Amino acid sequence: MTVFSYHERTKHRLERYAAGPETLDWSMQPNPFREFIGAKKTALPLSAHRISAGERPALESVGALLQLSMGLSAWKEYGPDRWALRCNPSSGNLHPTECYILALNVPGIENGLHHYASLDHSLELRCGVEWTRETRLFVGLSSIHWREAWKYGERAFRYCQLDIGHALGALRHAALALGWGLKMLDTPETVLGTERLEDFAGAEKEEFDILLEAGSGCATDFPELEMTNWTGQANCLDPHPMYKWPVIDEVAAATRHPLPHENPPSAGYSGAIYPVDLLLGRRSAQQFDPAFTMKKEHFFRMLEQLVRLWDIWDFESRVHPVFFLHRVEAMAPGLYVLPRSDTALSKLKAHFRSDFLWEQAGHDLYLLARGDFRAVAKTVSCRQAIASDSCFAMGMLAEFEETIGPDPWRYRQLHWEAGLMGHALYLEAEAAGLRGTGIGCFFDDAFHDLLGLSGKTFQSLYHFTVGMPLVDSRILTLPPYPKGE
Ligand SMILES: Cc1cc2nc3c(=O)[nH]c(=O)nc-3n(C[C@H](O)[C@H](O)[C@H](O)COP(=O)(O)O)c2cc1C
Repeated sequence: MTVFSYHERTKHRLERYAAGPETLDWSMQPNPFREFIGAKKTALPLSAHRISAGERPALESVGALLQLSMGLSAWKEYGPDRWALRCNPSSGNLHPTECYILALNVPGIENGLHHYASLDHSLELRCGVEWTRETRLFVGLSSIHWREAWKYGERAFRYCQLDIGHALGALRHAALALGWGLKMLDTPETVLGTERLEDFAGAEKEEFDILLEAGSGCATDFPELEMTNWTGQANCLDPHPMYKWPVIDEVAAATRHPLPHENPPSAGYSGAIYPVDLLLGRRSAQQFDPAFTMKKEHFFRMLEQLVRLWDIWDFESRVHPVFFLHRVEAMAPGLYVLPRSDTALSKLKAHFRSDFLWEQAGHDLYLLARGDFRAVAKTVSCRQAIASDSCFAMGMLAEFEETIGPDPWRYRQLHWEAGLMGHALYLEAEAAGLRGTGIGCFFDDAFHDLLGLSGKTFQSLYHFTVGMPLVDSRILTLPPYPKGE
């Protein structure tokens, strides 16, 4: 099966990394900003500080929604280098995720599909539509795989999916600040125009990932729309691509169409709602203080965010964190697991090493083994020091074969779930005065071996780490947009 063989061949192994470019010329990094040349632009307000919960979709609230989720959060400068950061994180800061809105009778925004240009916080009209009925607002996400593959080669498809998960988390939290729901829809994949090859001639293609409806009502039917008046030509991001990674196109095609799914409706979102300044200030730590011990209450608040149900979709939780706990007050250092569903607990017990302790450690957390796992965590995380200097590192085990076998599209969705969990940690870490960092680079089977896992029942899809950041004061921080409102 394409998706299983893709996953296997893109594992990093202790003796060999997944196939990627042999050399990188940083001066040739693809342009991180897609634009549609010739498309009509609408400037969005930087309204994040003016909104309140319960606002209706309009130019002002849509400006805030996008500013708080997909907008720039800062420019950074170091020597001759200058790069932008965004509210949503991204592996390697390469930002393969593109965002669209489909606005129907939204005051101040022309009816139609718009691409969001984060560089100047504006909308680019891709396709106008006729609509005279009630207000509806949709948000779509797509990926430009090449942006990520440029640096990471074959493994890049995975990173693109994790980035989508983070974008979903960023959008969900921005919507919460407005008091809005956000719900995935079953829609035709043509809705974002990503299959319109003529509009992407000479430019990197985009792959449709997900469409959601935003707002208070969140109906689940997608309206009949005539989308015929397309405008704008995608810009070329990398005029001289040096490599081709055909397995990415293969796995994208193999995971494209979700099977019809009937799930009981989720219980709704019951996690934290964060202030806008926290959403705008989220950052990754580059280095952690190796002596800092975090508070137990902060750790348990993070666990709470991880088990909260996400209301973006009605799938049950299929991704379960395993922690390398290094320094959490009043907690024994060691290896822990947090099954996020009752069924997962018995499955994990059946597949993990038989000598694990399974001692209840509060919440739904189980201590598997006591000990100092700093060196192991570092090795598993491609030998990155953030995994050992942090207060804890974790891996996210997905119920893999059983979920993806019948519906390969779930390969994407499981990564999105893992990305959402990472995002919950990023935000809760900020709330605790700490900081998180995503870890896409890990030795897959080294982690599985440690837990006694073999076969495809469980696979780790993402790792993460949280601690007290050490900030590099040589790097200058500048405002995201020329004139803040
Ligand atoms: C899916 C994903 C994987 C990542 N993997 C790593 C990693 O292995 N090592 C690391 O130091 N940072 C990693 N990061 C952090 C990114 O480098 C960081 O998000 C990016 O540079 C943007 O910075 P910001 O998060 O401060 O906005 C990862 C981030 C994401 C979203």
